[in-house]
Amino acid sequence: MGDMAAGDDGAVGGISEVPNPDAKMARQSGTPLEMLQRGHVVYMLKCGECHMYQLPEHLDIEDWEDAMPKMISHAGLPTSDEKAVLSYVVAVKKQKGQKL
Ligand code: HEC
Repeated sequence: MGDMAAGDDGAVGGISEVPNPDAKMARQSGTPLEMLQRGHVVYMLKCGECHMYQLPEHLDIEDWEDAMPKMISHAGLPTSDEKAVLSYVVAVKKQKGQKL
């Protein structure tokens, strides 16, 4: 508890727990930096709208893969964003050495 900022009013940029994508993250994850950046932006803008931010470490990869299509349709986003957010979440998990 107490490790997440609640996005009460959909405010942007309120959480420090998720890192900005950089070249190192792109290299480690084998994902283009632009896609990680897109995923990060969508995550920050949308994913704290209806509930508290679900941090990458909260779920393992399988559960993220399960949840993402639902959340993307909840949020009314294109499927390209689904891929971007999922790639970003996976890249963060890899960077932090979390169980995949
Ligand atoms: C329009 C509202 C809405 C938006 C926007 C939204 N979610 Fe959700 N989210 C929900 C609801 C409702 C639930 C719980 C019920 C469900 O699973 O549909 C949920 C549950 C979840 C869960 C838990 C799923 C599980 O299986 O335990 C995760 C993870 C999640 N959301 C991630 C995200 C991410 C990442 C985004 C950004 C792409 C996002 N959500 C955007 C409404 C939303």
